[in-house]
Amino acid sequence: MDIIENKFYFLLTYGCQMNESDSERYAGQLESLGYRRTEDMDMADVVLLNTCCVRETAEGKILGKIGELKHVKQHNPNLIIAVTGCMAQEWQDRLFERAPHIDLVIGTHNIHKLVELIRERQAKSGHYLEADMTVPAFHDLPTKRFQKFFAWVPIMNGCNKFCTYCIVPYVRGREVSRPIADIVREIEEIAKEGYKEITLLGQNVNSYGLDLKDGTDFSALLQAVDRIDGIERVRYMTSHPKDMTFAMIDAIADSKKVVNHMHLPIQSGSDELLKKMNRGYTVDQYMELVEYARKRIPDLVLTTDIIVGFPGETEEMFCQTLDLLKRVQYDMAYTFIYSPRTGTPAAKMDHQIPQEEKSRRLQRLMDVQNVYSLQLNQAMEHKEYEVIVEGPTKNDENHWFGRTTGNKMIIWEHDGSAAVGDTVKVAVDKGQTWVLKGHLIH
Ligand code: 5AD
Ligand code: SF4
Repeated sequence: MDIIENKFYFLLTYGCQMNESDSERYAGQLESLGYRRTEDMDMADVVLLNTCCVRETAEGKILGKIGELKHVKQHNPNLIIAVTGCMAQEWQDRLFERAPHIDLVIGTHNIHKLVELIRERQAKSGHYLEADMTVPAFHDLPTKRFQKFFAWVPIMNGCNKFCTYCIVPYVRGREVSRPIADIVREIEEIAKEGYKEITLLGQNVNSYGLDLKDGTDFSALLQAVDRIDGIERVRYMTSHPKDMTFAMIDAIADSKKVVNHMHLPIQSGSDELLKKMNRGYTVDQYMELVEYARKRIPDLVLTTDIIVGFPGETEEMFCQTLDLLKRVQYDMAYTFIYSPRTGTPAAKMDHQIPQEEKSRRLQRLMDVQNVYSLQLNQAMEHKEYEVIVEGPTKNDENHWFGRTTGNKMIIWEHDGSAAVGDTVKVAVDKGQTWVLKGHLIH
């Protein structure tokens, strides 16, 4: 048997969708070398951890996994361990000091170096680091997509916003947009392969194109992507309230395929904290966007991110965030406990909030939000929605699920009549806080 057929890689992705997308490019390179994916770490010849450092909890989990790998390597000394992504960019060779069993550390702009580094490591053992952020962020690389009908499409890398709590601008660098022609070409190719839904990815999609200085902007990209045959749904994330414009909302509303789901992180309901966070908008300005979007986009599904316990957050400021939840009534809020990140301005601010208080506020916030999530899902009962079938749920093969254009997950009892990737109609029977239950309409 050909030796190449017996080489395996084990890949874990932490963090955001951008990392998921980068992982597909790591996997593409590994497969071009003849490696196949395994879910069993002990079988692997290469283990790749594509990491996140946005919060301390992510880093803690990853360090735990790296610790576990020490034993795996003792059993298999030829194993190559690669740590990539944001934490690799942040830690660089400190990772080798912390865990000498790591072989490769690859930063956010150096994805294309994987093949070369694996070859070098195979020729000679040692520690190999590649974390140069001055090279281009995008490279034309083989991509192994993990899903068949849904595809991530990166449109830009990096962030120029420097929110005072956030480490992303330091580990992903400044904003760099991919040319519109490259993005359109990639989507046209995958549309021919049968992909139906794409998600345009960037840390701040609303500033897409501004660095290209040729008049390109996010509205123009949406219009170009909307024209591509075969694609049914266009998603985008993440939006930034400072750069989202009424014209972009018009482009979304006037398109055929751009979905009715908008993820618009507010972070806090206090103008004073928004200022300290360097977010660049007030609650009133944010509300103007929400009102316009709700007017222009029928059945808008609105989600957000909120941080509790930012330095200096008083009970009163926190209550302003609770009030905001009541005012906006989001379909869902992703809620985070503020995590100080070394090197960011907020980590050095006075009046850090004690951990127990942060946890209490998180719970209070979730209790308020869950009421609205449930109410809005219950309002979907006895209505019909179009979903693209994703397949069986994690725990039960007899229950399948799909998502609405608004990104709501609906589960139904599988009767064999719908296949993965089909676009079907589902009637909602019961709305719950996190999920909806329904049945297929034949
Ligand atoms: N602590 C807590 N949450 C954070 N986020 C970013 N940085 C931090 C941090 N230091 C949250 C923000 C952002 C989401 C992706 O992660 O809410 O929108
Ligand atoms: Fe971080 Fe702010 Fe940039 Fe989002 S916009 S990645 S929160 S700095």
